[in-house]
Amino acid sequence: MIGTIAFRAPRPDEGAQLWELARDSERLDLNTPYAYMLWARDFRETTVVADVDDELVGFVTGFLRPEDPTTLMIWQVAVDESQRGRGIAGRMLDELASRTGAAAVETTITRANEASVRLFASFAERRGAEHTVTDLFAPEHFPGTEGEWEAELLHRIAPLRPEPREETEALDALEEAIR
Ligand SMILES: CC(C)(COP(=O)(O)OP(=O)(O)OC[C@H]1O[C@@H](n2cnc3c(N)ncnc32)[C@H](O)[C@@H]1OP(=O)(O)O)[C@@H](O)C(=O)NCCC(=O)NCCS
Repeated sequence: MIGTIAFRAPRPDEGAQLWELARDSERLDLNTPYAYMLWARDFRETTVVADVDDELVGFVTGFLRPEDPTTLMIWQVAVDESQRGRGIAGRMLDELASRTGAAAVETTITRANEASVRLFASFAERRGAEHTVTDLFAPEHFPGTEGEWEAELLHRIAPLRPEPREETEALDALEEAIR
């Protein structure tokens, strides 16, 4: 279980691995392999993957909203089951927010996805940001109305502090100590 964790942008040829992680999560909406391949090529700057001992075990896909490029929209998050509970998803969000310098993070989550709600609530706490939840896509917006879709609520986290709270506080304490 212990291993060296590293975070980086995906390589353009790693889309298939993102698709496999999404498939194996059994929770995410599984898109076509092509969608993940395109993502790893064209949205790699707003996507992060986690390696444990050089094995790709997690990803966060995102994009800067064309209408508001200061907002980082997170599309999907997955961590291999064997690596969950180690803070990898949270650290991938931190990495992406820092790398893009986004002023806000948005995502949509269904009510039942407690892990995801906690992941984003915890990120908001670390960044000292407001976390608001509003309606976005209702079940009837999705194709087919047989009730197989759950409402996707829009979570918005803003304004973002530049770095996670602990790092900022540690720096503040260091500055105080040498003053
Ligand atoms: C959701 C998921 C990405 C979390 O990955 P992870 O690396 O285990 O998450 P972390 O260890 O970084 O935990 C982040 C926070 O979420 C909480 N959390 C993680 N899994 C949880 C669960 N099953 N139930 C409740 N809270 C959970 C953690 O306790 C932590 O909270 P804290 O910061 O207050 O301690 C992972 O469970 C997963 O891949 N699930 C399947 C796909 C999915 O549902 N993706 C999210 C929708 S986009």
